[in-house]
Amino acid sequence: MPFRIIRNDITKVKADAIVNAANSSLLGGGGVDGAIHHAAGPGLLAECRTLGGCKTGEAKLTKGYALDCKYIIHTVGPVWHGGDRCEEELLRSCYRNSLELAKEKGCDSAAFPLISSGIYGYPKDKALDVAVSEFRSFLEGNDMDITLVIFDKDSFEVSSGIVGEIRQYISDAYAKKCAARDRRNRDSEIALGMYHTAEAAKPIGLFGRKKESMKECSANIMPEEDICCETGAALEDMLKTHDESFSEALLRLIDEKGMTDVETYKKANIDRKLFSKIRSDKNYKPKKQTAVAFAIALELDLGETEELLKKAGFALSDSLKFDLIIRYFIERSNYNIYEINEALFAFDQSLIGS
Ligand code: AR6
Repeated sequence: MPFRIIRNDITKVKADAIVNAANSSLLGGGGVDGAIHHAAGPGLLAECRTLGGCKTGEAKLTKGYALDCKYIIHTVGPVWHGGDRCEEELLRSCYRNSLELAKEKGCDSAAFPLISSGIYGYPKDKALDVAVSEFRSFLEGNDMDITLVIFDKDSFEVSSGIVGEIRQYISDAYAKKCAARDRRNRDSEIALGMYHTAEAAKPIGLFGRKKESMKECSANIMPEEDICCETGAALEDMLKTHDESFSEALLRLIDEKGMTDVETYKKANIDRKLFSKIRSDKNYKPKKQTAVAFAIALELDLGETEELLKKAGFALSDSLKFDLIIRYFIERSNYNIYEINEALFAFDQSLIGS
């Protein structure tokens, strides 16, 4: 996956380059800097002493020592003073310079902490926007696997504004589902003569059933029997595309949308090698996260997304958290895969792409 967000301690991550949020002395400190020095061992400090410090926004490189990486890239983020002291530009420079250094050294992968967002006080949501937009523009012109490593997810969740809206969307969908289920239960009980009168009477044993359905509604996964996968496609179209595989459908859609292969896999957060595999293997069976990523890259509406997913044997349900988050974005025509992945990460769901 060219870009992913994970929750971890960066010293436990394997990557060609691990980025350190250092201070201008480069002689170690607290936070992620302290953790990296501690895990890398004393050789790191000895090499850092030879570097003559580093200016804010710039980056310098050392060996990886005991970390599972070839290089450690030390960059110095800005201290947050309210936003009017070029903090954003300096923070952008940290990411750009670190990425350029990693590229110069031939790194295929790099892992970053959320620079400046700890001791230096940069608001986490703003720091996240800067990081993600820099990764995005770098990946438009380069191939690299970039991992953003989030240490304290709680503050990430609170700071991410869209999360509240999505939470509401999910709970509305669950509530709708619970209401529909209760209505169905009630209808079947009426049909079975379990009510004394058809209206307003208390059904026998409803309490037990209600409790059960509420339990289901609060869980991550609702019963699959309710998954609806309506295609909405006209019969003629369905017949035309009946035998079309996922790979064939994907290539057809890329042509129909007037996109290039590169544009498509980059927008889908899909690795180039995987895309060639899909392109050359007519019967390739993608993971659901991969199929959804292509639907997002192609900016398909809900009906078209369902159609494409069906080719790979999947559907978008209104029961699974992952599916609801994808629906939320498609319904709003928001096809920004980076934002979608931030939201999926906030809800502990698998990210899309590959
Ligand atoms: N792995 C990944 N992320 C981490 C880890 C870790 N082990 N530890 C903390 N974070 P900070 P800054 C996150 O304070 O704001 C040092 O003293 C943390 O939750 O490490 O750039 C330096 O020497 C936060 O989101 O760096 C400087 O003096 C992010 O990493 C100063 O702190 C950055 O937090 C730099 O401050």
